[in-house]
Amino acid sequence: MMDELRAMLVEHGQEHVLGFWDELTPTERDALAEEIRQIDFPLLAVLHAGEHTAMSLKALANRAGPPPAFRLAAPQKNPFSVDEAKQRAAEALRAGQVGVILVAGGQGSRLGFEHPKGMYPIGPVSGNSLFQIHLEKILAASRRYGAAVPLCLMTSPATHDETIAFLDQHDRFGLPESDVTVFCQGTMPAVDAASGKLLLAEPGHLALSPDGHGGTLAALVRSGSLDALVERGIRYLFYLQVDNPLVDICGLEFLGYHLLSRSEMSTQVVAKQSPSDRVGNIVAVDGRLHVIEYSDADKEEAVKELLERRGPDGELEIWAGSIAVHVMDVAFLDRMAHTADALPFHLAKKKVSHLDRQGNLIDPSEPNAIKFERFIFDLLPEAQNAIVVEVDPARHFAPLKNAPGSAQDSPEAVQAQLIAEHTSWLRTAGVEIAEGVPVEISPLFALWADDLPAKIPPGTRVTEARFFC
Ligand code: UD1
Repeated sequence: MMDELRAMLVEHGQEHVLGFWDELTPTERDALAEEIRQIDFPLLAVLHAGEHTAMSLKALANRAGPPPAFRLAAPQKNPFSVDEAKQRAAEALRAGQVGVILVAGGQGSRLGFEHPKGMYPIGPVSGNSLFQIHLEKILAASRRYGAAVPLCLMTSPATHDETIAFLDQHDRFGLPESDVTVFCQGTMPAVDAASGKLLLAEPGHLALSPDGHGGTLAALVRSGSLDALVERGIRYLFYLQVDNPLVDICGLEFLGYHLLSRSEMSTQVVAKQSPSDRVGNIVAVDGRLHVIEYSDADKEEAVKELLERRGPDGELEIWAGSIAVHVMDVAFLDRMAHTADALPFHLAKKKVSHLDRQGNLIDPSEPNAIKFERFIFDLLPEAQNAIVVEVDPARHFAPLKNAPGSAQDSPEAVQAQLIAEHTSWLRTAGVEIAEGVPVEISPLFALWADDLPAKIPPGTRVTEARFFC
């Protein structure tokens, strides 16, 4: 076995990863051998040589324009009314055709939290975790429509075990066991930027990192989840990332537009405030939707110019910022999962600590390595009738990205936004809330604002922090 492994590594110029083989226990050797066997070496070489890009950033930027969209300011131009959309979405939910995919594989390093981000206690009054808020919304939707809404939750090796333990400890926040599938995304090895050589994180472990949320596609197939969804009759998947507690999970209007448009993949956007907003940019190229990441502006001048372009009215031409909320047809995912190279890899230069040949741990001060990631939104150009739906950022987008005290996307900012949204729901329902008093609504109390009037006794006044649950 060892000879075979070494021969394969020699063939690809990567035999240095066996440098500490003699010091490893048999179990450690097995683990390292397994990591090595998972690697597609020819692909890695092509990726490192930069020969695997779908369309160059420059070409994309030069041909990109704003996408057609369901805009907030001009609802009369939408092909379908809000009522039609809501009705159609409710039918699909009632028929048990809708599931949810929640991606929670990121390590949340910017947040500086030692656990999976989904465990972060974000509820401004309740202290409930991101996971609890998301799962209770799913439970509420399932109760309301009398049908299961199965959840696929994607973790990564760094978040998997703790996520499972957390969900078990809390009985999946009320979701039946048969409706929750947790699976782990794949990994990709990091390579030295200059030489393309694999890096060792430890004597018996490669430096591996999650393969991006685009890894969802492969992981759905590998875990058997995609087949299981098809078998259960699930036809549509609502996709969200764990970091945004304001996502309107299974929101009827968005789901309804997706269904009525016969779109294979739909995406929610907000109108960007400035060219440098840290969101993906949804653009149209030859009638197809693409995403240009905010970070690409630093890599390619043409992208920077594109994002700064303004129309005669001073509005940003590339206005649509992705909030990473999508609806995807299960049949589309199935087709893409069986299409070779459906998702390109993106390369990112990062600092990756690793062992040198003598076994010293090198902690680089500058980016030294390349990481490879796939992004789920790269499915957009492949989707038939893909649509873009604008939502109000104040009501739908509060991403938790950065540590307490940060200038933006901090826990404080997210909590303030949750309080503002729930205050507005309650005041609309006639509740009197003293200025500056924080309120929070459990999704099990009211999933949507129009659930509230039936629940709130007339004359309700709130003078101290209150969690409606
Ligand atoms: C991301 C989007 C950006 C969007 C923004 C909205 C990318 C590349 N960009 O930016 O277009 O406007 O969110 O908030 O995604 N994740 C995994 N596995 C991985 C990597 C990430 O599950 O291998 C999950 C994370 O848990 C997180 C989400 O994907 O929930 C987003 O990852 P993050 O690195 O926070 O992306 P952003 O750069 O903030």
